[in-house]
Amino acid sequence: MSAASSISGQRVVVSAGPTYEDIDPVRFIGNRSSGKMGFAIAAAAALRGADVVLVAGPVSLATPAGVQRIDVRSAAQMHAAVLAALPAQVYVGAAAVADYTPASVAAGKIKKHAGPFTLELVATADILADVAAHALRPRLVVGFAAETDHVEAYARGKLDKKRLDMIAANRVGLAGSGFESDDNALTVYWPGGERALGPAPKTALAEQLLDLMSERLR
Ligand code: CTP
Repeated sequence: MSAASSISGQRVVVSAGPTYEDIDPVRFIGNRSSGKMGFAIAAAAALRGADVVLVAGPVSLATPAGVQRIDVRSAAQMHAAVLAALPAQVYVGAAAVADYTPASVAAGKIKKHAGPFTLELVATADILADVAAHALRPRLVVGFAAETDHVEAYARGKLDKKRLDMIAANRVGLAGSGFESDDNALTVYWPGGERALGPAPKTALAEQLLDLMSERLR
């Protein structure tokens, strides 16, 4: 089987976009993830004949052709939707999941008072680590990491700690790359290897990432 076709017919679950963690009915904690990288991976995998489930945080992007999309808002909702989409052969965690969420959501709008205001946050569940440790673990579990320095050490640390097969580190801070851009630069690490991809449009990076993933599915 060629590397390019080894993903055909496989079930691929992709998470994409930010999560919004509600504080009260009018406020939330979010982040600047556009979802473009995850949507590009989902689109490219579907074109290669994969059966793709895209779990999307709040983004304004069109659903790629042939992709089953599940819209979620919070990290907890994304966690539930991703685990419910298993079993799958591949999981790609491209979402920028909030690491912390408010301990409680206020029922009414929080009013302004004199003096400082403290918001209690609690850790969210790590979706990627939970997928990698799951009884229905996909053959290939791929994470993303946003690193500004010590890129290899931090990315490889996450590869080991979360028991991943592959991690794609965003080379943050390069001109014309990153969260809201159409372009990006990645270094992909796996046990015993690495590959620098880009800078290139996210659509081209998605194809190159799928080539690397397909090689490992053969
Ligand atoms: N991730 C997840 N669930 C979370 C947090 C992160 O699935 N609650 C996933 C993301 O989808 C991504 C990877 O984990 O694939 C990012 O790992 P993380 O440890 O959060 O890295 P950073 O966001 O780079 O965090 P930091 O460097 O601050 O540890």
